[in-house]
Amino acid sequence: MVNEVFSNPFKPGAGHKPPYLAGRIEETNEFKKLIKQKIILENMVLTGLRGSGKTVLLDTFKPLAIQKGWLWVGTDLSESASVNEQTLALRLLTDLSIVTSNIVIGKKEQQKLGFAPEKIIIEQKLNYLTLTEMYNKFPGLVSDKIKGILEFVWSCLKDYDVKGIIFAYDEAQALSDHAQKEQYPLALILDVFQSIQKKDIPFMLVLTGLPTLFPKLVEARTFAERMFRVIFIDRLSKSESRDAILEPINKGGCPIHFTKSSVTLVVKESDGYPYFIQFICREVYDVFLQKIKDNKEPSVPIEEITRKLDKDFFAGRWSRATDRQRQLLCIIAHLKNNDTEFSVQEIVFESKERLNNPFSNSHISQMLATLTNAGLIYKNRHGKYSFAVPLLGRFILRQEQEVFSNGLD
Ligand SMILES: Nc1ncnc2c1ncn2[C@@H]1O[C@H](COP(=O)(O)OP(=O)(O)OP(=O)(O)O)[C@@H](O)[C@H]1O
Ligand SMILES: [Mg+2]
Repeated sequence: MVNEVFSNPFKPGAGHKPPYLAGRIEETNEFKKLIKQKIILENMVLTGLRGSGKTVLLDTFKPLAIQKGWLWVGTDLSESASVNEQTLALRLLTDLSIVTSNIVIGKKEQQKLGFAPEKIIIEQKLNYLTLTEMYNKFPGLVSDKIKGILEFVWSCLKDYDVKGIIFAYDEAQALSDHAQKEQYPLALILDVFQSIQKKDIPFMLVLTGLPTLFPKLVEARTFAERMFRVIFIDRLSKSESRDAILEPINKGGCPIHFTKSSVTLVVKESDGYPYFIQFICREVYDVFLQKIKDNKEPSVPIEEITRKLDKDFFAGRWSRATDRQRQLLCIIAHLKNNDTEFSVQEIVFESKERLNNPFSNSHISQMLATLTNAGLIYKNRHGKYSFAVPLLGRFILRQEQEVFSNGLD
């Protein structure tokens, strides 16, 4: 009889804790090394394509750090495209106040309201109100004010058994400097942390984001090159993928079983990308469950699942591209190396082969820049390009018919 209590364990979604976190041993060891630092010489950048598992890995770092005596603050910066220096400073204070708000830094008089007003002495705590008051009183630029506060906070924490504070920011690629508005929040955060780390204050940055993040940091401040240990979260290996598929269902009470061939198929189709593993397995689980109920021999309906994935994951991004951009993406998808890295030259060549009206060198560079801003492409440190969305090439080839039927070539 089918067990009704055991529910589908797979969780495709942004930041959803997987039923089993496969692999990531080396990455975790790197983090463990970094939290051994007494003087912070290296901070962390955790980067990878969409759905590769940055957020959930960052979530697993938090308890490790806390266990070793660190305080952990931070947030998701995905909405921060328009953040300026002042709002970033307030963001830091808000996050900081969560862990400092119980620290008593003195006593102050307060008027007690009531029938006969009297003065009472209360403890002054390092809460948000105190931090913002201090911020407003501090002289100088935003960076001077923030540095001053961070130094003060550390002087208060010294009496406690605290190793330091980790400032963990997810989706950090959303931060941008805006030269036209003379607002440099990205440069600000780098300047502030470099300066306080030079004073041996153990406040460490852990920034997570798409592969555009690190080049962006280096562009803002060249010293960022030396300030960060960059960890690229890649696809899972075949055996790690199998663990991600099987560990959640190899449990007592699980009503279904994935055959060897279905596991091989999921490994192949997901190409080791964690989001796709969760997505495909969630579908397969439900299908198998129903087939069990129907007493049929289950098989993976991969075409239907792929169609659903196209609709749920890729279609939104694809629909935002213009016809000409789609045509360029289609040319890229035909490159043999589309799922690793490619150059403008290779695209020029392929476009001459395939189109009557091929793209010029400069037009391609210009369009790649626009596609980078749209989050579909990124330029790596060696000046080559890659798709910023995993398995985008395969998806595009599935759409090819539609692109070329527009008669644009
Ligand atoms: N190591 C792993 N093993 C199994 N599943 C994982 C693993 N890492 C992530 N996942 C699953 O993959 C999906 C995507 O994870 P997550 O949201 O952390 O990716 P991300 O890199 O932060 O994506 P984005 O760039 O969109 O923010 C989630 O459903 C998560 O449960
Ligand atoms: Mg994420």
